[in-house]
Order: sequence, then structure tokens, then C-alpha cells
Amino acid sequence: MDFTLYRQSRRSLLLGGGAVALVSGLPARVSRAASGPLEKRFVAGESRVALVGSPHPETVVWSYNGTVPGPELRLRQGEKLRVTVENRLSQDTTVHWHGVRVPNAMDGAPNVTQKPIQPGESFVYEFTVPDAGTYWYHPHAHSSEQVGRGLMGALIVEEPNSPEVDRDIVWVLGDFRLKDDASIAGGFNNPMEISMSGRVGNTVTINGRVPDRFPVRARERIRLRLINAAAGRIFGLEFKGHKPLVIAFGGQPGEPHPPEGGRVVLGPAMRTDLILDMTGKPGDTTPVMDMFYKDLGYKLVDLSYSDEAPPRAQPASPPAKLPPNTMPEPNIAQAQRHEVTLTGGMMGGGRMMGGGMGGMMGGGSMWAINGVAMPDARMGDMEPILTLDRGKTYILAIDNQTAWHHPMHLHGHSFRVITRNGQRTRYQEWRDTDLMPPRSQAELAFVADNPSDWMFHCHVLDHQEGGMMSVIRVA
Ligand code: C2O
Ligand code: CU
Repeated sequence: MDFTLYRQSRRSLLLGGGAVALVSGLPARVSRAASGPLEKRFVAGESRVALVGSPHPETVVWSYNGTVPGPELRLRQGEKLRVTVENRLSQDTTVHWHGVRVPNAMDGAPNVTQKPIQPGESFVYEFTVPDAGTYWYHPHAHSSEQVGRGLMGALIVEEPNSPEVDRDIVWVLGDFRLKDDASIAGGFNNPMEISMSGRVGNTVTINGRVPDRFPVRARERIRLRLINAAAGRIFGLEFKGHKPLVIAFGGQPGEPHPPEGGRVVLGPAMRTDLILDMTGKPGDTTPVMDMFYKDLGYKLVDLSYSDEAPPRAQPASPPAKLPPNTMPEPNIAQAQRHEVTLTGGMMGGGRMMGGGMGGMMGGGSMWAINGVAMPDARMGDMEPILTLDRGKTYILAIDNQTAWHHPMHLHGHSFRVITRNGQRTRYQEWRDTDLMPPRSQAELAFVADNPSDWMFHCHVLDHQEGGMMSVIRVA
């Protein structure tokens, strides 16, 4: 894949003068009466939004309620959410509440947990949110195109006592492939991209706009919730001149710590919460760089310090650990271990692993989990790769034998990443999606406490639709 090309075309859009300052939000605390569910109506349909901004034309997108990202859902831990989704697209859809441990029937997996919502039909999702954290929602049908055209949004669940910060900010990171007229390029699910990195766009957005600068104040403390809502792009963010602390990953709290190597790496669907102390001076401008792809680093946005007086005389004291969520603790000593092998895709020298050119032509079976490819079209009639006993601890020993990154996501549960490449992980972090580098291993431990059939798949959406999808049954 020639990322350079895409990068340059993004540059030309950026240099066209369409960039804008991100509107700085005030902390949007939930202030609803604690009774009754949070009720929303989502209409999925076509709309026009200013992704790039003037003088570029608006972009025709697929969106929830006309905006990209869709409306931010924000509620308190333990509250109930009820969302009626009306499908005004020309194809079927569902909504998946990524990372939230919902009851199976509310999970949005087409033909596994529900019938897809046909054009003109509606479906009501209703569930309580058991855990605080930063989550998101997106369609789970024709995912590469539906997310790639703009269907996604943030779902924020606040702790009962959220840490003191000056601002609680959400950055939904989007990635679009735009033509020169700012319209979305077609060519979704082409076999070449499926077999490699998946569709990576040329236009990165924060909260649906190509960003230019983000206004901040000296000594301000920001809780920055980052959501990678891209279909295929991996981010590696460096906050130049600043020392962010990771306080949660994948929605789940952990010991506050600096990101490894000073870089916040987020594969598709992954989220992190940072405490970002604004240690610069009034008038400073410092860049946030995305350095993930070798030689393709670019500036995502500038942190732009205002001249306002700092909100506090002294720097804020170190943040405390967030309160724990409600996941049952895996009993590692008693755990049953299952090997899960990832294969497929383009290897070195243009050679396909497994499927060969036959796979290339079809596009639907270019990747496999434990030797089985489950393309989108066959969801619902595939046997589970594993059947687990409810209440027991399991370790999934994942072996990525491919030459590509795969953010592996398990529905309905969160797992601890206990080892990586045979080494114990320092933080034994909870996640629902784990980015597996090429030819790497990881062990994921969790209690199979949520009954029924759950998707386990790669969140590079072209890989998912290209077969890298499976079902794990909790019986
Ligand atoms: Cu966000 Cu099955 O995915
Ligand atoms: Cu993948």
C-alpha cells in the first residue's frame, strides 16, 4: 500500500486552508435525574458535513442524526440506555456498543445476536452500562463501508466520582479517503487492501473535522479520551513537550503511567484516557504528531496556549488511580488455555498465505482464525471456534502468524493481557481490543461470565469482512 500518496493528498486538502480550531468544550457532566433510562433516537442515513471545511465542498456521508461522529452518548455507571435506531440507509445495518458488556441480544452482531435492521426498519437497543469508561458505537454490518462513510460515535460512561480535571475532552479520531472534491472515494472491500493493511484513508479528523489547533490554557489539567474510530488506520500519537499519563485503556482503569516510549498507540476501535497537564506557557504552540507509520509521520493538531491566566497557581498533583470496574477477576491458576492462530494476508514478495489467488479473487476468505474464515456474508451459520463453560477462567493464547497488525476484539467481555511474546505484561491491563503486531503472541485472560455467542474478530474492518472473524460460545 502506498501511504505516501494518500498522505500527500491529505496534505493538499489541509494546505487548502480548510483547517479549523477545535471548539473547546466545557466539562459535560451528566446532570439528568437519576431515574429512567437515557432515551435517544438515531436515524442512520445520508447527510452532508464539512469534514475538511471551507473552501472545500461538504462531504456526503452516512451518519447518525446528520453528524459525524454521531451524537455523544454520556451517562453514569449503572444507568440504562435506550436507543431506537431507524435505518434510512440503502442497506441493512446494526449498532454495536463496542466494549460495553451488554446482554447478548443487544450486541448488534448481525445474524448472531439479531436480524440485521433492514432499510425502513427500526430496532430498540436497551441495556444498563455496568462499567465506567470510554466506549464507542458503530455498525456491525458492511462495517468497512458503513464506518468508512462516517457511522460511528462516542459512548462515555462516567465514574460515580470522576477525577478532578479542568476539562473532560473526547477526541473521536476518524479517517476518511477523500477525492479532490472532498467526496468519499469508493472501492471499499477491494481484495488488494483486504489482503494488506485494510483501507487506510488520506484525511484524518478529530470529532469530524480536519483539525488545525486545539486551544488550551497553561496549567490546565485535561482528561483526554481518545477513540480510534477509523476502519483501518493505527495511530501513534506523541504530545510534543508534554507528559501524558494513561489512566485507562479500552475503557478500563489502570495504574496511571506514561505511554510506552512516549507514544500513545491505538489500533482501530481502541481507546485510552489520558491525563494531560498543560505544562507550557501562555502563547506556546506545540504539535501532537502521529508517528505510527514509518516515514509517514504528520502533525495531527497543534496545542495552542491562550494568554489567559492559569486556572491554578501550582501544577496539579499526580492523578489518583480510577476506581475499579465490575469485571470478575480471572483465576489464572485454574485457567484453561486455548490456542488461537491468526493466518492469511499478503506475505513478503506478493505471496498470499493460505488461500492463494483463489482467496484473492473472492476477498471473503483471505484471513482465518484457527484455520476458519468467516466472511461477513456467512455470519450466523458458522460453528463457534470455542465453547467455554460459563463462569470459568480461560486464557486465549493468540499467535499472529501474519505479516500485519491485527487489533483483536472480543465482544461481551473484557480480558486482561497477561503476557506478550512470552513476557509478563507490566500492568496486566484490561482491554476489549488488543493490537497484535506482526508475528507476535499474547495471552488474554478472562472469566467467561456472559452467556451466548460472541464475536471474536480483527477490528481492521477489511480484515473482519475478509474472514478474520469468529464466534466464541459461552454455554
Ligand atoms: Cu467494534 Cu465486533 O466490534
Ligand atoms: Cu486484522
